Amino acid sequence: MSGMLRLAIIGAGFMARRRARAFVATGRAHIVGIAARRLSSAKTIGAELGCPHCFDDYRRLLDCKPDAVLIEVPHLVQDELVLWALGQGLPTLIGGPLSVSVQGGEKILGAARHAGVLLECGFEARYKAVWETAKELLHAGRIGQPIAVQSIALWNGKSESWYYDQAASGGMPLTHMSYAFINPLRWIFGEPLRVSAFANRIKQTAADYVREETCVANLLFPQQVMCSMLAGYVKSGSGDAWGLTIVGTEGTMELQPTEMENGSLRIACGEKAETFEFSQAQDAFIAQAHAFIDSAWTNAHCRNGPEDCLRDLQVAIAISVSAREGRSIELFQDFRPFS
Ligand SMILES: NC(=O)c1ccc[n+]([C@@H]2O[C@H](COP(=O)([O-])OP(=O)(O)OC[C@H]3O[C@@H](n4cnc5c(N)ncnc54)[C@H](OP(=O)(O)O)[C@@H]3O)[C@@H](O)[C@H]2O)c1
Repeated sequence: MSGMLRLAIIGAGFMARRRARAFVATGRAHIVGIAARRLSSAKTIGAELGCPHCFDDYRRLLDCKPDAVLIEVPHLVQDELVLWALGQGLPTLIGGPLSVSVQGGEKILGAARHAGVLLECGFEARYKAVWETAKELLHAGRIGQPIAVQSIALWNGKSESWYYDQAASGGMPLTHMSYAFINPLRWIFGEPLRVSAFANRIKQTAADYVREETCVANLLFPQQVMCSMLAGYVKSGSGDAWGLTIVGTEGTMELQPTEMENGSLRIACGEKAETFEFSQAQDAFIAQAHAFIDSAWTNAHCRNGPEDCLRDLQVAIAISVSAREGRSIELFQDFRPFS
């Protein structure tokens, strides 16, 4: 297969728009159909994207003869849609994490293997120039041997949105910490060995809301690299609360990856400092769309395949378990996730 990718989209919200535009911007994809829970939502985004084939039943997307599917929905309803797409033999891009549970993720991994088609999760950080550059510089030893990472990722969550709903989202660590910044840190430092976390719930306390509203998680990576992550849905004021500092034996790296923009990076070694700007770099969502299209035609892997993103899911759920049970967890050894 080659040529223009016929892409069908399930979901019609913020990220469906963001990624649909990224696919169109590649010049290598057509949006051939859109399905959402409500037909009116699908039609609204359909009108914006010039796609007249809109449905409130995702199965109708097959009428559009898609080559691939993009799924951008609340996490709780995602598994059914992913399993359906894989069952149709369609390469699938999931906008968020692999699943809401480890068991669900394992089932999806099995279905992807059985179908033998591409499955990619939507962590665009690994396609972002700022993270690619950080990885290259760290592996080149530009700040010596990495010792520790400190990160902050606070987002002003809206309590009425599904993100704040524990069941619909799978919780804050899964929804938020997996991409800010478990997924790119695993890409750089390898599989974390141990996790120890604390969490609280202070701003929104109703029973259905996320149990870990704000969380501090400590991860121990190989080579004794220690990582302390602060993340959550409480962010008041306009101050910057999104970035990382990586400390090495010879210097310090400061990353401002930003949520939707290209970000920047600064290295300081002794008296010398160097700043990297990425304003001219390709948008990460477009880069990921290109990689997805390439892989869809060749059945190759992308950077966020299901085996890899099952690890993101396991780490995020281990953070929740650690915070709830007040214990450290040896990852992938004594860890028995709850469903
Ligand atoms: N990579 C990133 O930077 C990033 C950032 C934010 C979010 N995300 C991820 O993006 C994904 C989508 O989030 P979002 O912010 O776009 O959500 P959103 O704006 O709330 O949109 C969700 C969409 O899902 C549709 N939907 C709900 N249930 C459905 C069902 N059963 N069948 C079909 N459609 C259904 C809704 O349809 P109606 O409109 O009809 O209700 C809505 O259009 C999530 O996985 C999230 O984690 C990624």
